[in-house]
Amino acid sequence: MVADNTVDALRRTVSALRCTTPVPPGTPLRCGVDLGTASIIEVVLGPDDRPVACEMELCDVARDGLVVDYMGAIEVVQRLTHRLGTRLGTELKAAAIAVPPGTSRANANTHRHIVEAAGLEVLASLDEPTAANSVLGLVNGAVVDIGGGTTGLSVFEDGAVVYEADEATGGTHMNLVLMGRYGLTFEAAERFKLDPAHAAEVRAATRPVAEKMATIVGRHIAGRGIEEVWLVGGPVTQEGIEDIFAERLGVPVRKPPHPMMVTPLGIALNVPGGQTC
Ligand SMILES: Nc1ncnc2c1ncn2[C@@H]1O[C@H](COP(=O)(O)OP(=O)(O)OP(=O)(O)O)[C@@H](O)[C@H]1O
Ligand SMILES: [Mg+2]
Repeated sequence: MVADNTVDALRRTVSALRCTTPVPPGTPLRCGVDLGTASIIEVVLGPDDRPVACEMELCDVARDGLVVDYMGAIEVVQRLTHRLGTRLGTELKAAAIAVPPGTSRANANTHRHIVEAAGLEVLASLDEPTAANSVLGLVNGAVVDIGGGTTGLSVFEDGAVVYEADEATGGTHMNLVLMGRYGLTFEAAERFKLDPAHAAEVRAATRPVAEKMATIVGRHIAGRGIEEVWLVGGPVTQEGIEDIFAERLGVPVRKPPHPMMVTPLGIALNVPGGQTC
């Protein structure tokens, strides 16, 4: 079951994409930046961990968890930060970030430098499933973050990470299958995938990719006594993907509403201190 307050927080994060909650001067703010393969999402929290504004841009600045367009990434973070600042009537100065599990120090530093170059002091750098689990609150089990380019997973025991892994599979690989099957460009495959009119066809065509993802996750969690798996990330939005995982893994597999917003929200929740506007 997803706790009511988690559902509420995720719903508020989505509505913060469009609506700004006004923040009077002196309000403490915390900003999280999720720099991903398919999108960059920034969430700003106000008092009581409430999302007050959120911005997102689809982009192509990272592949398989590695930044390939450094300047492009800086520009997107600058744009999102500027838009958030304008909406909130204050300059955002600091943020937390997250990187896929097992990211090397050099690559984690690249993420940090991008966000710093965009004008935000980096107050914390976490791994993505840990950020996601700040929202989910799983004590024992695995959190799997399926993104555009990679699938990261962390195993939690008594609330602490005891194992983590990251593999190159995600929404991009679903697009590759759709490109081959329907003769589409990458961009057309992305549009086709997200069009609710094609949902059944997309589910059928991408099922082998979801099965492969589940097999990969199964390999990592085998023998670890996992009793529960949570899925987050954009591709998890696809209806029924949790059933494919449950079949392969043989344990209950759950997903929250708005799974793409879990990690960005979790990053913002982990900003220590933050700033006042
Ligand atoms: N409704 C949906 N159905 C299927 N796939 C979706 C849906 N919404 C988003 N996606 C896919 O989710 C992916 C983006 O998810 P997410 O934002 O979690 O990834 P990311 O954080 O950018 O990537 P990574 O974590 O690998 O760096 C894209 O491949 C996108 O096509
Ligand atoms: Mg991600």
